[in-house]
Amino acid sequence: MSTKRYTITTALIYANGPIHIGHLAGVHVPADIYARYLRAKGKDVHFIGGSDEHGVPITIKAKKEGITPQQVVDKYHNMLKSSFETFGISFDHYSRTTSKTHFETASAFFKKLYDDGKFIEETNEQLYDAEANQFLADRFVVGTCPKCGNEESYGDQCESCGTSHNATDLINPKSAITGNVPSLKKTKHWYLPLNEYESWLREWIVAGHKNDWKPNVLGQVKSWLDDGLRPRAVTRDLDWGIPVPLDGAEGKVLYVWFDAPIGYISASKEWAAEHQKDWEPYWKDEDTKLVHFIGKDNIVFHAIIFPAMLKAEGSFILPENVPANEFLNLEDDKISTSRNWAVWLHEYLEDFPDKQDVLRYVLTANAPESKDNNFTWKDYQARNNNELVAVFGNFINRVAVLTNKYYDGYVPAPRDFSDTDKDVLAAIKEFPGDIDKSINRYRFREGLNTFMNLARLGNKYLADEEPWKLIKTNPERVNTVMYIALQIATALSVLAEPFLPFTAKKLKVLLTNTDTKLTWDAIATVTELLPSGHKIIEKPSLLFTKIEDEAVQKQLDKLAAAKQANEAANKPIDPIKDTIIFDDFTKLDMRIGTILEAEKIAKTKKLLKLKVNIGLEERTIVSGIAESFSPEEIIGKRVTVLTNLAPRKLRGVESQGMILMTEKPDGKLAFVVPDDAVVQDGEEVS
Ligand code: 2FM
Ligand code: ZN
Repeated sequence: MSTKRYTITTALIYANGPIHIGHLAGVHVPADIYARYLRAKGKDVHFIGGSDEHGVPITIKAKKEGITPQQVVDKYHNMLKSSFETFGISFDHYSRTTSKTHFETASAFFKKLYDDGKFIEETNEQLYDAEANQFLADRFVVGTCPKCGNEESYGDQCESCGTSHNATDLINPKSAITGNVPSLKKTKHWYLPLNEYESWLREWIVAGHKNDWKPNVLGQVKSWLDDGLRPRAVTRDLDWGIPVPLDGAEGKVLYVWFDAPIGYISASKEWAAEHQKDWEPYWKDEDTKLVHFIGKDNIVFHAIIFPAMLKAEGSFILPENVPANEFLNLEDDKISTSRNWAVWLHEYLEDFPDKQDVLRYVLTANAPESKDNNFTWKDYQARNNNELVAVFGNFINRVAVLTNKYYDGYVPAPRDFSDTDKDVLAAIKEFPGDIDKSINRYRFREGLNTFMNLARLGNKYLADEEPWKLIKTNPERVNTVMYIALQIATALSVLAEPFLPFTAKKLKVLLTNTDTKLTWDAIATVTELLPSGHKIIEKPSLLFTKIEDEAVQKQLDKLAAAKQANEAANKPIDPIKDTIIFDDFTKLDMRIGTILEAEKIAKTKKLLKLKVNIGLEERTIVSGIAESFSPEEIIGKRVTVLTNLAPRKLRGVESQGMILMTEKPDGKLAFVVPDDAVVQDGEEVS
């Protein structure tokens, strides 16, 4: 195949939450590197992404928040789109699966398969929650995975082993809505008989792609094929989704994993309509290379189910590659939306508004390409300070400062090249080709490391040649040294583009006063990358700045707070105490009161001395609440006081009662108070 154009897709993100570094490292950063690289090579690139807006994850979120699914997806789609833009993911089009074009495209795709007799229509028993009046498919049901024994498997997929199954395959299924054990109820659905595609898939993938697909992808695919494929339902009994476009299918929608990948095609159609282009060559021409960037939990859908759908439809090309990444952990723990254990992109962009490239760099240098990997804030800081600032930034800064100082910003004319100079000039030309090899094999961390080797080469060259010393003894030689350093800087400005696009732009402007000029391949062929006599800009700003300990500590504190809140929320509720008789209860004298005064008891962490009006009198009470409240904030607060508790001395102060407290999820205390403000001080609690 001679590749004429590239269609690059990123897994559509469920629009039920913001995006985090796991998504970015696994999917969007590598895909963006690939797309930017190909554009820098002058290729015809079509790069798309979007929000996945159907399916049970959206419905569950809507139920939780008490809003409609449409409100959920509107909120998160806009947030996702804007985070991607600010982060510099260079989509040609970012779509959503509730768009009109997508409804039409997905419906037509289903209809074509139906008309061509590609589905099996079957009425059989499915899991049903009578209390919720709901069939239990996908994430509405959890149970034990029949393949790996994970007890938290969803109805359609086990996130632990990646297997995709039918809900009725689960062992000990339980409704995720009510917790009930489901019953069985008959319902009609349409199935794609994956078993009929098994030998074709084996031939296409295992024989055809054994040398170019990543081992983790091939491994998973082989294991499913060896287990044998079975028909998969492509419709669901749900009220959120694309209606099944058939008579007699009221109340049924397309399975989210049937409609979502078609979303890639819909995105291309929308893009084409907006840009007066033809979308079809990007999906139907054999000379187009289709590449899906995904996380490992999406392998089955992109390597088996979607290709089988495309094959069944008949007019589409198939993916050339599915470079799935493994998962990224955060501070040695699995990233989790429900536990808030994540670095959220929108928050990162608020905390580090000009450091998109630093995050891109760290996520690429640490990419989970062949195994799960770990992100730590300390590593983030170290890579910024020791690599981006100390190597790349330092080299560029020296080049810019010295060129301005010695030559008023003009590129000097070189004199005789030494052997080292010749070696360096020859070495520059090797870099584009070396990085090509890595990127074409989806080895982005290797490509980035090679890129940084060019910055290291530049740094070493200047450190060895010491132009700042030579300027006194041999100024002519400095002309040559600085000329060569400027050639390296120019090569860096072009080769940085896929990995560090914001920096590449800054550097190109610094060196050439414009954003673009040289192409990727020109680095290997053009003799003078930055000609003598050209003027670079004065007073350039630094490419990278140091990240201080405080900034990192702030992020670690945020994570610690998330962990604490999560632990508190999951704290087991204490069992109910032994039964007491009514007379025991009536012995307690509890009254509503108001705090009049509060002060800390010196040399204690927890104790506050309070004066409390309990209606009949004022009482001094010592209370262990100083870690939850400052004295000032509780003056005037209503409280409930156990007034007939025997007095006792605490740190020399006699406490004449006890304030009733309860604990919040974050571990802080809260007062137990009447919900009606007009209750008078002194009123009894009974
Ligand atoms: O796993 C997920 O997060 C899905 N939303 C991915 C969909 S990819 C594609 F097929 F749209
Ligand atoms: Zn499993």
